[in-house]
Amino acid sequence: MGEPVEDVHQLDPLVFWEHARSFEFWFEAVQGYLEGSSFGRHPEVPESVREADERDRLVTVLCNYCVGETIALEGAGSLIRVAPSRPAKVFLSTQTVDEGRHLEVLVHRLLELGVSDPEAEIARRASPSLQEFRRLHGELVRGDDWDAALFAQNVILEEMEFAVFHRHAQLADPRTREVLLGIVKDERRHIGFGENELGRRLKRAPDLQRRLREVRAELDPLILRTFREAIAEIGGPAAEREDLSKSYLQAVTRLGVE
Ligand SMILES: [Fe+2]
Ligand SMILES: [Fe+2]
Repeated sequence: MGEPVEDVHQLDPLVFWEHARSFEFWFEAVQGYLEGSSFGRHPEVPESVREADERDRLVTVLCNYCVGETIALEGAGSLIRVAPSRPAKVFLSTQTVDEGRHLEVLVHRLLELGVSDPEAEIARRASPSLQEFRRLHGELVRGDDWDAALFAQNVILEEMEFAVFHRHAQLADPRTREVLLGIVKDERRHIGFGENELGRRLKRAPDLQRRLREVRAELDPLILRTFREAIAEIGGPAAEREDLSKSYLQAVTRLGVE
């Protein structure tokens, strides 16, 4: 795995456009960090979550991550049909595989933590604001609104997921940490694709900015609320909750949708 895979933001946009959307790039990337792993981590890592309270808070957070990953999985798969170019369809097929893997490793972690019925537990613990985001994002996807749905999913949802997973990994038990760090590596590629695709489309259609600002105003408070709750559950200090949106705000500024 080379450095460019680690930080797609440092890739020249043209290089990204030509290479990073392919299965060739994807294989090289995931091989670097998933080879030898099982359910997203090395099998020998011991369980260290024993306290009932710590376990309960972790289960709540992981259930909400599962909702986020389900949104991305359903969105990436459904958007293949409306993606405006073949390379974009190919990229979305790699993203669909990634999101399916993310959901699988998070559900597996819930099972390890003693959750006997993950479906019921996810439904019970899902934050209302994340469920509302899922409903609105679903409307954009079903409306074949490529730009708005991609912005909601690969910029709003994934930029904030990226920040929260990254911070959570620093605070988490070793098993959860390794699972999250693997997910974060994939999310970087997804965010890179979203920014690259939307950046080029915004240059060609400046009116799109107004539309994406509307989407942003409606959807980003829902994700911000969800992930601030998550940071509180994993024990991050209150001040940090404000920092969470920093990389997201930088992304919308780069796109001119601030
Ligand atoms: Fe994901
Ligand atoms: Fe993703």
